[in-house]
Amino acid sequence: MPNTYDSVLGLQWGDEGKGKYLDFILNYLYQGMISLVARWNGGTNAGHTIVRGNQKIALHGPPSGIISDVDCLIAPMCVVNIPTLLDTEIADLKKQGFGCERFHVANEAFTILPWHTAIEGFEEEALGKSKRDTTLRGIGPAYGDITRRYGIPIGVLMDPEELFKRVQENLAIKNMMDQFRDLNLNAEAVTAELLALGERIAPYTVEMDSYIESTLGNNGTMLFEGAQGSGLDYILSPSYPYVSSSGMTTSDIEKIFRVNPSDWRNIHGVMKAYVTSVGYRIFPTKQDNDIGGQMRQRGGEFGTTTGRPRDCGWLDLVMVRLAIKANRTTGIFITKLDVLDEMPEIKVCVAYRYRGDEIKYPPRAGLAGCKPIYTTFPGWQTSTRGVTQLDKLAKNARKYVDWIAEQLGIPLIGISTGPDTRDTIWLG
Ligand code: IMP
Repeated sequence: MPNTYDSVLGLQWGDEGKGKYLDFILNYLYQGMISLVARWNGGTNAGHTIVRGNQKIALHGPPSGIISDVDCLIAPMCVVNIPTLLDTEIADLKKQGFGCERFHVANEAFTILPWHTAIEGFEEEALGKSKRDTTLRGIGPAYGDITRRYGIPIGVLMDPEELFKRVQENLAIKNMMDQFRDLNLNAEAVTAELLALGERIAPYTVEMDSYIESTLGNNGTMLFEGAQGSGLDYILSPSYPYVSSSGMTTSDIEKIFRVNPSDWRNIHGVMKAYVTSVGYRIFPTKQDNDIGGQMRQRGGEFGTTTGRPRDCGWLDLVMVRLAIKANRTTGIFITKLDVLDEMPEIKVCVAYRYRGDEIKYPPRAGLAGCKPIYTTFPGWQTSTRGVTQLDKLAKNARKYVDWIAEQLGIPLIGISTGPDTRDTIWLG
């Protein structure tokens, strides 16, 4: 039998609840049947929160599989902050009793370099009010260096000569900038620092292709774990330039891992029953009022990574439609339905009014001037929290989720009714 591939991707602006769904897949749906979980984009800007009973685990760099008994990999197109990964995340997970023995980092993933966070700070300061509102984790400058050919893959940290050459090149180019010169970086000292990091990360590193082949064998199942969401994709999203700086879609996975389009079993999209966004961007359905406040408070909508309050608003099918199409999504998992429990009425944006037209896909050049056209639903005003069976769901709540799937023309595979991994209705 050939290998099987599944992926879980965000269909909005991140924070859709992918961590919970991944934990459900790994521990209930396909327990013991997944050979390898790979995180393949972003860095510590992302945040997955997993709740198992009284235990709450926040992950930033490692894949969710790290807390399940499964092999997991940080793969190329990820940018890794080695000290944060080892001293904060892995150290904390070990303290919580997770062994992390099956956790690996591809030599091909890139390193966040000592200057990336500083550069991001300079850039945000220079932009003032129009700053990109990033997580200040150095992610943008790291990806910038990768595409400009100055990135340093983890594997190079174990090759002193090559590393020194790459550090020198970096400093020669960067020192053309006044602020950079003020950092007083010296190639010998930086190389020594990076070599020491290389030594520390070495026990976790693997050559990706051989590792995947030996882990999957001939009939393994690989699960790809997306960070952020299509609304933050640096090329696809109409929110550009208020986006993150990596690719977040199915075609990115296919390119990195050489997965053929016909090899997919499932491409699952995760979306909230409403929308949130952290950091500045044009948000057509934003509710800067009591409704948004209620969503934020009931949904605990504060960034996992930065703690910033998230903006909240009504579900926007226009943005989700693009994400579904771009990812060739095969099913949707709707999260946080219970957050809407007390709403007397619920709105959903079905199209935008834009330059006199009614449009069903967002204009790629940007969302300025897009006015939402809403359909209004009666609320259910009864608790759906923790419901695990479809026939126990309030009638109007059921109508709401069924209608969303119908509008999007896609199977509804599950509904999340609370933060705990078990608070899930599985429809398959
Ligand atoms: P960066 O990814 O740190 O460059 O930040 C760029 C934008 O993406 C900011 O608005 C961040 O808040 C947003 N962002 C990055 N990662 C996530 C995430 O995991 N969830 C939600 N927003 C994110």
